Amino acid sequence: MTTIANRKGEIMLERAEDASQFWAYDFSYSKDADLTLLDNVQFIYELSLAELELRAFGADYEVTNGLREFKLNNKSNELNEKIIKKSSYLKSVGKNFTDYFQIIQKNRTRSVNQYLTHWVYPYKGKFHPQMIRALLNIIGLKEGDTVFEPFSGSGTTALEAQLLGINFIGIDISPLCVLQGKVKTNSVYAIDEITKSKNVLISKIKPSLFNQEQDFYKVLEGIKDNNTRDFYALTRLLAVSDESRRGRSFEQSFIKNLNLMIDSVKDYKEITETLHLKLGNVNLKEGDSRNTELPDNSIDGIITSPPYSIALDYIENDAHSLEDMGYKLNEIREDFIGVRGKGRERVELYNNDMKKSYSEMYRILKPNKYAVIVIGNATYQGQEVKTVEFTVDYMTGLGFKLERNILKLIFGLYNVMKKENILIFRKVK
Ligand SMILES: C[S@@+](CC[C@H](N)C(=O)[O-])C[C@H]1O[C@@H](n2cnc3c(N)ncnc32)[C@H](O)[C@@H]1O
Repeated sequence: MTTIANRKGEIMLERAEDASQFWAYDFSYSKDADLTLLDNVQFIYELSLAELELRAFGADYEVTNGLREFKLNNKSNELNEKIIKKSSYLKSVGKNFTDYFQIIQKNRTRSVNQYLTHWVYPYKGKFHPQMIRALLNIIGLKEGDTVFEPFSGSGTTALEAQLLGINFIGIDISPLCVLQGKVKTNSVYAIDEITKSKNVLISKIKPSLFNQEQDFYKVLEGIKDNNTRDFYALTRLLAVSDESRRGRSFEQSFIKNLNLMIDSVKDYKEITETLHLKLGNVNLKEGDSRNTELPDNSIDGIITSPPYSIALDYIENDAHSLEDMGYKLNEIREDFIGVRGKGRERVELYNNDMKKSYSEMYRILKPNKYAVIVIGNATYQGQEVKTVEFTVDYMTGLGFKLERNILKLIFGLYNVMKKENILIFRKVK
């Protein structure tokens, strides 16, 4: 008998086969290609970003072999080295694998994007890490520069900047987001302490771990190292989320994820050593993008995606974890952008809040530097809210010039089309 579930599987397979027609290509790679794209590159906007990245590195290139390879016209050891260390969409340069290709092999999940510690909390609306790495390069950020993210969310940019040796400053109004970003980036410095604490911690909290919530946080207070404490707090919240969203057993989720998280942090440490990466500093804290408290003209670049989906309620989404951390949802809701008010008022409040945030971005960015905003139009109560136009108009009025507007079209599950814009602004006035 064909069940609906079976039929869904069949439909998805058919669609997956169709998908190859989006970008059909011959799998036989040339033996002597200068640069080869990674297999996971499948959308045209990704090819555009790959090209912009090569231009930022100073490469003079031609796209060849079904758009899967590049020929370099200005070869040099220096250029090769730069592409190997930094590029985001390439698998190899001549016979050498890129750093990025080696980094993404360190993946404990089934999702290609969730390598290293990117996966450690199921946050809705995560950036695509590969795209962020490319954008960091495209706007010309280098080792030692500082990138700022006013809505740092799950910490995707924090981790990608860290990997490229770029210093990161980030704020988010949600304490849960800040915790995620910290665990993703700081645990690599605390892996010995984390591993040492594991058995002691489990023996102390068992058997009450899985019933009496208060005990867990009390036991955590006994851990001196901040990074280790954060790590175990997030492990608990991951299990809280698994239990409430997916109905999984808290206990099983806790133990399974704890081991996986430890392995992911070890992977991170190992790849840092193998590739001799000099990690950037990460400075993440709770804060409000409308008032960042950062000095004027102090930042080398901004990459962010604001809460454009005024229909997506970030507080509701993470309600279980925020409550477990001891927060009163109604109290923290006040400062979240995009979730206050109803109907037309909600859009007005959103626009006013975003104006303040964009003005802050303008104030703290150094002249001639870039701010990248990834944003799409939201649908709220059946109507399209033109967030993209609003952003372009307001930013331009502030003294930014829109240098590029890259349309990011992607097809999600069941071929639902998602449209976002990658807006690259430069502070010109
Ligand atoms: C689209 S998400 C960012 C996702 C992020 N790019 C990622 O990869 O995970 C928007 C974020 O804005 C945060 N936010 C909402 N109001 C804020 C405010 N006033 N100040 C700073 N962050 C705020 C939310 O907590 C949410 O994490």
